[in-house]
Amino acid sequence: MAQTPPSAPANRQPRPAVDGGGGLEYRVIAEDDLAGVDAVTRAGARGFLMGEPTDAELAAQRSTIQGRRHIAVFDASLPHPEVPVATVGSWVTDVTVPGGSAPMWAISAVTVAPTHRRRGIARTMLERELRDASESGVALAGLTASEATIYGRYGFGIATTGARLTVDTRRAGWVGPETDGRLEFIDREELAVAMGEVHEAGRLARPGDVPGWPERWREFAGLAAGEEDGKRVRGVRFVDGSGQLRGALAYRVYEPETGPTRLDVRFLAAETPEAEAALWRFAVQYDLVDQVTADHRPVDDPLPWLVADTRAVSIEGRDFEWLRILDVPAALTARGYSAPVSVVLDVSDSHGYAAGAWRLEADASGAATVTSAADSDLPRVSLGVAELSSLYLGGVAVRALADAGRVRGPEPALRALAAALHSWRAPQLSISY
Ligand SMILES: CC(C)(COP(=O)(O)OP(=O)(O)OC[C@H]1O[C@@H](n2cnc3c(N)ncnc32)[C@H](O)[C@@H]1OP(=O)(O)O)[C@@H](O)C(=O)NCCC(=O)NCCS
Repeated sequence: MAQTPPSAPANRQPRPAVDGGGGLEYRVIAEDDLAGVDAVTRAGARGFLMGEPTDAELAAQRSTIQGRRHIAVFDASLPHPEVPVATVGSWVTDVTVPGGSAPMWAISAVTVAPTHRRRGIARTMLERELRDASESGVALAGLTASEATIYGRYGFGIATTGARLTVDTRRAGWVGPETDGRLEFIDREELAVAMGEVHEAGRLARPGDVPGWPERWREFAGLAAGEEDGKRVRGVRFVDGSGQLRGALAYRVYEPETGPTRLDVRFLAAETPEAEAALWRFAVQYDLVDQVTADHRPVDDPLPWLVADTRAVSIEGRDFEWLRILDVPAALTARGYSAPVSVVLDVSDSHGYAAGAWRLEADASGAATVTSAADSDLPRVSLGVAELSSLYLGGVAVRALADAGRVRGPEPALRALAAALHSWRAPQLSISY
């Protein structure tokens, strides 16, 4: 079910602006245009409420931007016309789907200057990204959102929920398994490498996850340029009984003058349940620590089942990864199915890409065929492209969307669809992109 990713979109020239405000120029920033790349970084920092980037931060971004397309929007009428008034980045990456992986058009760094907001610039940029993704033959687009109200209008739906876990270590206890391996402190350079290796080794087991990149691991390890408190980051790795690296944990301990001493998990990478249990135990039983927090964990994280007092773990869920199906047959045949199903999906899409009646038939092997099906005697399920995109990874309940009136059809067809789409592991995106 794996597909070969199409070529990356870097440096693809966008068409001239058709809207978004007069006098604006939309331009692809070439990777070797260092002044342009730096200008994009500066505009991005402003958009995401950060300070002016240092030279070291600009240099780090120059390496991250390689292989990615960045479009910047310029307003020639400004006193500083070289500073973009809007930015968007994109690249083609793999995303894990149930039973395989699929190419995805990742969208990032969407910013519009507060001086130019609400004139349709973001809409122009987003609609172009979808068009370019579709024309490049990429069946899915994905992003993480600063607010949950921005991207539904473009057909994106919530596909993973990130869980924030907070553990009261004084009452947690431990009932998890003993593990046959050992934990070892490593320095931050080694930590960045170990997290990347373990993440890559386990990534295909988690629908929703994407490959990382060096700068992302350096950030978790506290090595990113501009990280003021990076030296406080510590790391351990878990090596199994046969000497194989299976897990890595980056964390930081805060000891405020008042209030609980807290251990924040920055990233916990585990390739095996044994490694995961060992790293959780390390964090939860850390001497002098009252509270442990971890973000972007899967909603089926085993932690509440590893501790003696499950009420010591509180779980707060929030939308994390948003997906947008652009090509229904390509997307639906890229994933595997947990049960046979024969149904027609009547998909509405105001942007057109996914609109139509699609006959989805999956057999007991988990493979599916999807064909256009205007006329069919099969039961029909009606839904919008955002809802189909939410269901795609198997982490959103068909019943919940049906009860909310967002998916409609006869109950037996809804049940069959739910069983077929179900994912053995709750989808998880562990890193933002
Ligand atoms: C969010 C942001 C990119 C929007 O840019 P913009 O150019 O003002 O957006 P547009 O004018 O193109 O608006 C398009 C539509 O989105 C809506 N919209 C824009 N920002 C919104 C927000 N924050 N919440 C809800 N709706 C929003 C607009 O009302 C408009 O709706 P409509 O056309 O359906 O009536 C911009 O405000 C910004 O840069 N914010 C800070 C950084 C950020 O959060 N970026 C997003 C990262 S995921």
